Amino acid sequence: MDSPPEIVLSGIQPTGGFHIGNYLGAVQNWVRLTETPGYRCFFCIVDLHALTQDYQPGDLPGRVVEMTADLLASGLDPERASLFVQSHVPEHAELAWALATVTPFGELGRMTQFKDKSEHQPENINAGLFTYPILMAADILLYKATRVPVGHDQVQHLELTREIARRWNARFGETFPEPQPIHTQAPKILGLDGKQKMSKSLGNTILVSEEPEAIKKKLLSAYTDETRLRKSDFGHPDKCYVCGLHNYFSPADVTARHHEGCATATLGCVDSKRALAESMIAYLAPIRERSLALRAHPERIREILQAGAASARSVAIETMSDVRERLGLYR
Ligand code: TYM
Repeated sequence: MDSPPEIVLSGIQPTGGFHIGNYLGAVQNWVRLTETPGYRCFFCIVDLHALTQDYQPGDLPGRVVEMTADLLASGLDPERASLFVQSHVPEHAELAWALATVTPFGELGRMTQFKDKSEHQPENINAGLFTYPILMAADILLYKATRVPVGHDQVQHLELTREIARRWNARFGETFPEPQPIHTQAPKILGLDGKQKMSKSLGNTILVSEEPEAIKKKLLSAYTDETRLRKSDFGHPDKCYVCGLHNYFSPADVTARHHEGCATATLGCVDSKRALAESMIAYLAPIRERSLALRAHPERIREILQAGAASARSVAIETMSDVRERLGLYR
């Protein structure tokens, strides 16, 4: 008999644009997993999570359309996964409330993303920002996911998800598996400053559908090896942000040439940045073109998201029915 499929779930916020950190750190794995036999995949555009950060309500629908177009353009096939909007499946918010009752308050206070985001928006430290990881646990546990393809920054949230699952199972009986993260080769892409994580809120991103001229301009300002002040200084390609990105975007011979040119001081940082810009533009061009073409057909995107929500919801309703019974809610 065939073994049951591994259940995969992951999510992405629709705010701030789809950047190369999201793509290399998570979405490449999303696509790969949909192509792997034995995996049933759910991918969710987490608009409810996005409400916790400063945003303009009028912008949100357009952001969802753009994010969906970027994901499809990156190779995500909606026939092989349920791709949907979190708020279209109301069971996410309902399960989050139930899980909140088994989540230790102290654990939420330890979340580094809560601390970072609070620092970033000191005028808006709302309770949703604090309980954010519970909603994330609900996203995952609603589908009984066992695998969660994410970047490094989500690992602590996943640890908490496992803790919540354990506490729930101990209190209400075995219901949820403990999900494990899956990482790509690039679980932490740094921003253009080469120091902090590439992040929408830090404004240090390169978008996957960025205009070619903007890519060139951004890369020319990017950080390189700090110890290499002049072209005649020997560089350290393993410590250089630009050399690092060649690994992901340039053909192997171009990457090797620039790594060696850096180490032997025969090629300068600007040469390396120009070559990287060329490779990155060529790499991203087909994704950008597909995304722009898809954005021109918002009705097609709506159909895909509605179908995704319908298939996700049939699973969500089943889980919630079991959860309500276990909680002892009057029926
Ligand atoms: P979000 O929207 O910030 O990012 C989406 C995915 O991209 C990864 N990522 C990165 N990977 C490598 N380098 C980077 N610089 C980088 N920046 C972002 C993230 O790790 C993530 O995998 N809380 C989540 C969304 C979420 C979720 C979920 C994820 C909500 N519910 C359930 C998994 C499962 C977030 O804000 O991701």
